This record gives sequence, C-alpha cells and structure tokens, in this order.
Amino acid sequence: MLLGDLYLLSMDRIVVQRSGPLAGEVQVPGAKNSVLKLMVASLYGEGTHELTNVPAISDVKTMGKLLESLGLTVEHGVGESGVLRLTNSGTIATVAPPELVTSIRASINLLGPLLACRGRVRLDMPGGDDFGSRPIDMHVAGLTAMGVRFDINDNALSAEVDHLIGAHITLDFPSVGATENLLTAAVHADGTTTISNAAREPEVADLCDLLVEMGAKITGIGSACLTIEGVPRGALHPVTHAVIPDRIQAATYLAATAIAGGDVIVRGARPQDMQVLLSRMNDMGLEITAVPGGVRIVSQGRMRAVDIQTLPYPGLATDYKPLLVTMLAVAEGMGVVTENLYPGRFRYVEELSKLGADIRTDGHHAIVRGVEGLRGAGVVAPDIRAGAALVVAGLAAQGRTVISGIEHIDRGYDDLVGRLVGLGALIERVDIPVTQPQFFAN
Ligand code: UD1
Repeated sequence: MLLGDLYLLSMDRIVVQRSGPLAGEVQVPGAKNSVLKLMVASLYGEGTHELTNVPAISDVKTMGKLLESLGLTVEHGVGESGVLRLTNSGTIATVAPPELVTSIRASINLLGPLLACRGRVRLDMPGGDDFGSRPIDMHVAGLTAMGVRFDINDNALSAEVDHLIGAHITLDFPSVGATENLLTAAVHADGTTTISNAAREPEVADLCDLLVEMGAKITGIGSACLTIEGVPRGALHPVTHAVIPDRIQAATYLAATAIAGGDVIVRGARPQDMQVLLSRMNDMGLEITAVPGGVRIVSQGRMRAVDIQTLPYPGLATDYKPLLVTMLAVAEGMGVVTENLYPGRFRYVEELSKLGADIRTDGHHAIVRGVEGLRGAGVVAPDIRAGAALVVAGLAAQGRTVISGIEHIDRGYDDLVGRLVGLGALIERVDIPVTQPQFFAN
C-alpha cells in the first residue's frame, strides 16, 4: 500500500487526559475566516500575490486547490512557513470542481470576484460546517441589485452580468459572507456602492484592507456602512499582506487555560477584537489582562456561571460558543446560552453530555448546570469549533477522552495538539490506520 493510501485510510484520534495548571506562552496563527477570503482576492490583479501568517490548516489547502482549478498557481510555505504565494497569469476559469466547492463554506466567496473579473460563474452550493440551513438569499439580492442575473436550483447556481452597476444595498442582517461578496463585486462596478448594515467582523476589515492595498477604493472599513467606488478591471495589483491573527483560536487557548487552570500568555491575540468575550471571561472570575502583543489569562479556583448570547460582531461570536458552553459545563452555578445566528448549532451538546456535562437545550437556548468534574469518554467532533471544545473539555475530565472526527479540527486549527502540549497539557494525536483493530478503553 502506498503511504498516501495509508494516510487517506488513517483514522487519527486526539487523546486527552485531565491536565493543568497550564503555563507558558502560545502563538496564535492567522485567521481561517480571513485567509480564505484573502486568497480569493488574488483573482484580482495579474502577478504574484503573497500572504504571510497563513495558518497550516486543511481549508487553506482546499481553497488553494479551488483557485488552482480556476487557473492560479498556488505555492505553500515558500521560503518560510506561513507564506503563501498565489500567481495570477490573467486566465481565469468560471467553473470550479463541485467536490471542492461543496467542502468549504468560503467557496461562496468566489461569486463576487468571478462576476467582477469574468462576468459569469457557475458554482455548486457551498459546504462547510453543518449548523443547519445556511441560505445565500442576501448574496443573491445584493448582486441582483448590481445587475447580476441568477439561475438557481437546489444544488447549483449560475450567474452572469454584462456590467456590474453600483447600488445602495441594505442587508437584512449583517451577514459576513454577503458583505464580503458584495464588496468584492463592487470593487469593479460602475459607480458607487454602499452596503448598509454591513458585517463589522475583523476578518471583513482585513479583506477591505487588502483590497485597498491592492488599489480598491473602500471607506467606512470596520463600520456598518461600507462605501466602495468602483475602479476599472486591471486597476488592482498584487501586494504582500499579513493575515490577522485568529481570534477563535486565541479564544481556544484562553478557554483551555480557564478550564485546566494556570497562567498563560496568548501571543497574537488582539484584545480589541475580542472585547465582549474577554469581559464575559472576567465576569466568570478569570483574570484577563492585555499585555504587549497578546492577552494573559490567570485561572485559579472554579469559574462562576454567566448567561451568554451570540450576536454579530462586536457581539459575542457564535464560533466562541462551544468553548463557552464547555467552560459553563464545569463552572459553579447555571448559565443560560442563547444562540442568535444558527439555531441548529447545539449538536455537540450530546457529545459533551457523554463526558458528564449537564446541559438541556430548547430551540436556540441551552441551560448549562455546572458540574464539579467531567469524566473521559469517546466523543466525535461534529464541526471545527465544537471539535476544539471537546478537546478543551477533555482537559477537565478524569481518565481519557478520545476524540474522533478530527478532520474537522484540522480544517481550522494549526497544530492544536502541539500548541497545547507546549503549555503542559496531557494530550496526543494518535494515528490508527483503519486496517488495524481499534479499541479504546476509558
Ligand atoms: C461566517 C464564518 C463562520 C461564522 C459566521 C458568523 C467563514 C468561512 N465562516 O460564516 O465561521 O460562524 O460567519 O460569524 O467566514 N444568512 C442568511 N442569508 C444569507 C446569508 C446569511 O439568512 O444570504 C444567515 C445565516 O444563515 C446565519 C446568519 O445569516 O444565520 C449569519 O451568516 P453569515 O454571517 O453569512 O455567516 P457565514 O459568512 O456563512
């Protein structure tokens, strides 16, 4: 059997034991939800684009393959790790392979740039984490206002436009993906586009910053109203740009320390991007301080429960929620958790319950009654952030917690295990080929 075949058949697990206190420093890599969109921006501007602080995650590889299928050349780790070069020779296809499109949500971000650069696109419906229904009606309505004609069925969409026309668009909800698609399309539209009720996430601002560096005209960056003056096709040029640090990965190391106890500096964490989270963690009794180049957390004693609700930025990100639910699962008291973005995003609760967590869900609410300790068990990661939360839960569980389905974690985490080992956690990644018998005693 070839090594490649063995890899494909392998069923890696992460095995965690009760750990702590954690100590030391951990460096946060670049943000998944930023880098994927920054990569797509290389569809604008002939020549070689360079991104730095790129995380080593499988979604970056998938997006790289997608862009290669459209005609770009993508080189990973040139010169040093964390560097990605994307070369655009000016020939760009308008149809991408369905198996790649359907494996990541960010493939929907091809829509705006392909319409702006080529005037047409055909895409299968994007994939990504399964939080329930993930419609694209706001993308479609905004682009239609800019002159795009759509033909959509359950599995795929085709779209074309002769000339994108600037429009005044008000989003029903500050959708990250819709804001990104509309602003990237508007970059080459005739005239001015305004996007009101735009998403204000730091990753959207990172994309705007890159486009401005490339020659786009965007104002209101970081606010709920973006104004984009269209520039002619060919006016954008390649640049070198550093991806912003991943606030969700940063939150994962904060949550790990909160749960296991300890004193850790999370380098690269930007407190200004995480204000609500840090304040809720303070409310839970954790000592959180901004330090030069990062955030320090000191966790001793048991956390106190608080109520939380997810909201668009600057509110508490839905991607933090599995980590917060895990923290509440071992905190003193009861916390009510309200999910306002994805009602279906409580699937991991069943897995946390296998570890002894006391959580009841009702629609988009969960009631979490803190228990004194968890117990190790075999659990399955249902998506990226929930998978990381199960790893973090394992730090507080007696015995061994064995997490499978970790290909989800690999989509968004750059060496989660190695970074936690660096802080003193008892955790390892075990590669078990399916050809061998599997048995996990807990
Ligand atoms: C992005 C992030 C994801 C994060 C989410 C919210 C990426 C690759 N993913 O996803 O990790 O959890 O932001 O911060 O960046 N909606 C509609 N119609 C639309 C578009 C969205 O109803 O046309 C709804 C969605 O179903 C959801 C809400 O709006 O309920 C937010 O979605 P959106 O902000 O668009 O999230 P994504 O860009 O898909």
